[in-house]
Amino acid sequence: MLILGAGDVRSVLDGAEQRVLAAVRESYELHALGRTSVPHSVFLRFPADTRNRIIALPAYLGSGTAVAGVKWVSSFPDNVAQGLDRASAAIILNSMRTGVPEALLEASAISAKRTAASAALAASTLLSVNPSTGVSLVGCGLINFEVLRYLRAVFPSLDTATVYDLDRGRSESFATKARSAWPTLAVDVVEQPADALAAQRLVSLATTATVPHLDTAHCRPGTLLLHLSLRDLTVASVRSSVNIVDDADHVCRAATSLHLAEQETGSRDFIASSLGEILVSDVPYVTDEQRPIVFSPFGLGCLDLAVADLVRREAVVRGLGTRLDDFLPSGAQVFA
Ligand SMILES: NC(=O)c1ccc[n+]([C@@H]2O[C@H](COP(=O)([O-])OP(=O)(O)OC[C@H]3O[C@@H](n4cnc5c(N)ncnc54)[C@H](O)[C@@H]3O)[C@@H](O)[C@H]2O)c1
Repeated sequence: MLILGAGDVRSVLDGAEQRVLAAVRESYELHALGRTSVPHSVFLRFPADTRNRIIALPAYLGSGTAVAGVKWVSSFPDNVAQGLDRASAAIILNSMRTGVPEALLEASAISAKRTAASAALAASTLLSVNPSTGVSLVGCGLINFEVLRYLRAVFPSLDTATVYDLDRGRSESFATKARSAWPTLAVDVVEQPADALAAQRLVSLATTATVPHLDTAHCRPGTLLLHLSLRDLTVASVRSSVNIVDDADHVCRAATSLHLAEQETGSRDFIASSLGEILVSDVPYVTDEQRPIVFSPFGLGCLDLAVADLVRREAVVRGLGTRLDDFLPSGAQVFA
């Protein structure tokens, strides 16, 4: 068993944006080609507690060297008030030859970076003809900070971020951190969500809202909304937009805005395509200049595996992590 802690994982992922983007892209393409297995995530909730949850995301990715495993990710929103991260996670990678668990990785950075990479990949694919030089970020937490990092990796000319959070202190400290990380980036804090939606034609939503609270009527024509938190947009907004998903079966669950739209309309006809289908088609995506485009990724476990496998391989090359060679019972294979 190879154990990779947060420091090991970060040392591989820091500055590795292009490799993570490539791994996430391949994962989406394999998913579109039917070479993954991604069962529904299992939500563990607790009696008389509507906020906290722990989710299991098992997956298989049939890349060159196939990989299987599970991410176990918790969300405890009240952590933030105590100065802790909302989410924490671990990933187990299993051998595809014997099934034994081979690696245990601290996965909060993997989870955040694969989410940001999927958002940036969607933005570069869906806005390929007309890249954006600015982004509005609604929700000033860890995810949108990583989204900003990955958007800068795919759009080097991105020079402006407009930020909004329900908690003004969070948007101010986000702006300070962003200015320090990227001194040439202009960061504007706005007071109202409508101002953020109207400011740029690329918008990333990463809040902890549990019920819809935003309407795309405030957006410019043809705005791309990266709807990462999945429950922000009203059903009317979803229905009047061009909807791109990661997987319709996954995203139409768990009271997402798309799930609510499906319940209201009785069908999924409002979903135009998946990102994987667009990526494998090799035809440049042509933006609808009038309607908003909404990318809603449920977050597929095969993306986590792709990035975890990248980290595991690089860690082995660099000799990172701790090996527990007596973790498995005698007779079982250990990672070599
Ligand atoms: N789709 C995916 O693959 C995926 C993956 C990881 C995380 N997420 C989601 O991304 C979201 C953000 O995660 P995070 O780790 O950055 O959380 P976080 O708690 O660090 O930050 C969330 C921020 O949103 C703000 N907020 C809450 N309600 C708001 C509202 N109505 N308007 C504006 N701001 C509001 C909070 O004040 C907080 O600052 C979560 O909902 C999480 O579930 C999605």
